[in-house]
Amino acid sequence: MSLPAADLSKQADHLSTMDLGVVLPATAEVRENHLFIGGVDMVELAREQGTALYVYDEADIRERLQEYRRAFESRYANSEIIYASKAFINKEMVRLVASEGASLDVSGGGELAIALAAGFPAERIYVHGNNKTPQELEEAISAGVGRIVLDSRLELARVSEIAQRLGVVQDVYMRITPGVEADTHEYIKTGCEDSKFGFTMREDFAFNCVEDVLAAPGVNLVGLHCHIGSQIFALHSFAEAIDVMVELIARIKERYGLEITEFDMGGGMGIAYTVEDMPSTIDQLAEVTIGALLGSCENHGVTPPRLLCEPGRSIVGTAGVTLYTVGILKTLPGIRKYVAIDGGMSDNIRTALYHANYEAVIANKAGEPRTEIVTLAGKHCESGDAVLLDGSIQTPELGDIVCVFDTGAYCRSMSSNYNGQPRPAVVFVRDGQARVVTRRESYEDLMMCDV
Ligand SMILES: Cc1ncc(COP(=O)(O)O)c(C=O)c1O
Repeated sequence: MSLPAADLSKQADHLSTMDLGVVLPATAEVRENHLFIGGVDMVELAREQGTALYVYDEADIRERLQEYRRAFESRYANSEIIYASKAFINKEMVRLVASEGASLDVSGGGELAIALAAGFPAERIYVHGNNKTPQELEEAISAGVGRIVLDSRLELARVSEIAQRLGVVQDVYMRITPGVEADTHEYIKTGCEDSKFGFTMREDFAFNCVEDVLAAPGVNLVGLHCHIGSQIFALHSFAEAIDVMVELIARIKERYGLEITEFDMGGGMGIAYTVEDMPSTIDQLAEVTIGALLGSCENHGVTPPRLLCEPGRSIVGTAGVTLYTVGILKTLPGIRKYVAIDGGMSDNIRTALYHANYEAVIANKAGEPRTEIVTLAGKHCESGDAVLLDGSIQTPELGDIVCVFDTGAYCRSMSSNYNGQPRPAVVFVRDGQARVVTRRESYEDLMMCDV
């Protein structure tokens, strides 16, 4: 796919780094025209570690986890925050989540293996996925994970068989598609009726399947789950989904006599990728969703269940940035200005996939206004390979260090080795210290699995 045509009338915004506000990681600052994060000079870090480079502001991640816990637990003590590790996972991130007292959502055997290797308590792990293989299910059940989120009847049969064989009873949730249209990009809507995820509510299918779950030996139905999509700004979508789910909980109690004691509302909270984006706050999310839960429970005569919230993007998205070096400058008169960087769709697929928007600055000119409109093109063999589409930036020169903000979620975790590109290192910065938490891949790594 090629790029959308540039809007040639677009003017640079003349903002400098600190004008970018909510888009910046918590500790971003400018010192002597250089961008600092976590007290570390991004220009020096890029020179030491090479580029492309993923950098995370550790204080920002911890702050978000604490903010989520505070916002939910202060309003409703019977609540829990589960970090959705698909947004970004490595062993150090898992340890950080554990140290902040949050639980962990894993999707598939690989994320589970990383979580267990990092010593995360199995009973606080929630296992998701629309096609967990029998082997993945067996790994999860034998590890003693807290909850498996059932996605289909076939999976129910598999979990039941494995649990009986292992002589355990596995606590499970049912993932429900509540038929609520979240106001977000098509590719990241998941709660609408035509979805590969979960049990549909259409024609009472999910409701009738409860009977099968209750009849299956080796499984114990304790909760329901829904996840309506990602990068959601309109909080009313969450409230609508919660109301649908509570009504279902009430009907389950009435028909089957079963009290559903846990309800996982999924993740999906949006973040600001550009200065124009106006996401809600975590506090507002907690206010609206807890209000909706308690209100619906009262209306339907249901005892309020434990509420679990499962954010990914809004924990790590803003904390993470990607650093690149400018390698080629190419102006096509009347078309656009390309600035080619030493990464692209292999480290950030979001722009090529759905024309995601970002803000970027030149880290070694961070105090200057952004006076040019450029496209940050990647180095891969696809004409749609870009990270920033027609965005404002300081005047670029060869060798400049570009910093693209808000790349902490779904970039590293969706990265690839396309064109034989080794994946960048991941560095955590905090209090003036930088530590490599995932090393850069080498050419040898690219061939490691070849026989
Ligand atoms: C089941 C489930 N929970 C949580 C999340 C996290 O969503 P977000 O990163 O938008 O908060 C996802 C994302 O796809 C998901 O599928």
